[in-house]
Amino acid sequence: MAAVNPPWAMLAELTHGCPLRCPYCSNPTELTRPSQELTTEQWVTVLAQAGELGVAHVHLSGGEPLLRRDLTEIVAGASRAGIYAQLVTSGLGLTRGRLADLTAAGLPSVQLSVQGADAASAELIAGRRSFAAKRRAAALIRDAGLPLGLNVVLHRHNLDAVDALIRLGIAWGAVRIELANTQFYGWGLANRAALLPTRAQLAHAQEVVERWRERTDTELVWVVPDYFDGTAKPCMGGWGAISLTVAPDGRVLPCPAAYALPLDLPNVREHSLDWIWSRSPAFQAYRGTDWMPEPCRSCSRKETDFGGCRCQAFALTGDAGRTDPACALSPDHHLITDIAARPGGDFVHREFTRG
Ligand code: SF4
Ligand code: FES
Repeated sequence: MAAVNPPWAMLAELTHGCPLRCPYCSNPTELTRPSQELTTEQWVTVLAQAGELGVAHVHLSGGEPLLRRDLTEIVAGASRAGIYAQLVTSGLGLTRGRLADLTAAGLPSVQLSVQGADAASAELIAGRRSFAAKRRAAALIRDAGLPLGLNVVLHRHNLDAVDALIRLGIAWGAVRIELANTQFYGWGLANRAALLPTRAQLAHAQEVVERWRERTDTELVWVVPDYFDGTAKPCMGGWGAISLTVAPDGRVLPCPAAYALPLDLPNVREHSLDWIWSRSPAFQAYRGTDWMPEPCRSCSRKETDFGGCRCQAFALTGDAGRTDPACALSPDHHLITDIAARPGGDFVHREFTRG
């Protein structure tokens, strides 16, 4: 077996519980119940193993990670393992005291999700009152001296507000605003028709972002959509190449959307992270280029985009080993163009909240 480079980043989905009900959520439609979640000790062990493996950066995410009462101990575990941690949160439940405990445990940064540029539009997406709590959370993070990142998932219902969203992020003191066009996995896939933007919306929003880049020091990250331009994204930087995801119940995935794939997912309750990364069949399945079919196999871009996204290939063709239909060279490309031409309908909110 060829030597495998270590992972650089880890997404720790501490819980699937969440106070919000966003229809674009990439969590699986079958959410992990709180009773199945890893214990504090298990998370601390996973983080120690991740540090030994070479992981340098962990996103502490969910769901809503603040629902874990032991979050401070988990942050301390990341800090002891020498891993830079970023808390990815809705901001609901963040208090001055909680943030002080987290920073004392070594938390160096926070990313706050925002669903819209004003309360009415944001709460229509989030499925509950939340905008004022987010504004308060942003102020707390700034007051604590932590770098604030804002994450906005974009879709048909908020793309026209990109200008206002950037203004909001700057006003709230964000050093970085991630404008991420919806990727259609989990709940997002179930709501795809209702969330798909139009080409005109995307083109306009991208122009707005370019104009802002010329006049702000805030870093603006534009995560491209892949249903529209005939190119496949280099998903995850390649399968099992740079990052891994640990699910609330300890399953380990090569990407956060791989729940849906027909893979035998290894679990940290049974295997070390080192074995999982370097030897488990799930991480070997699409690593490198040997698995590729034509047209990828003989394509000059195969080391650049890695044949696109396995989850998207599976969602659209039923075979995760096919070329991503987002690529114009794929024999299945018509599946994407047909879908992109037919946006419409209403979304349903994500269900399941932790009681
Ligand atoms: Fe990428 Fe495969 Fe398309 Fe070539 S054929 S551009 S490798 S997805
Ligand atoms: Fe899973 Fe792209 S989202 S490989």
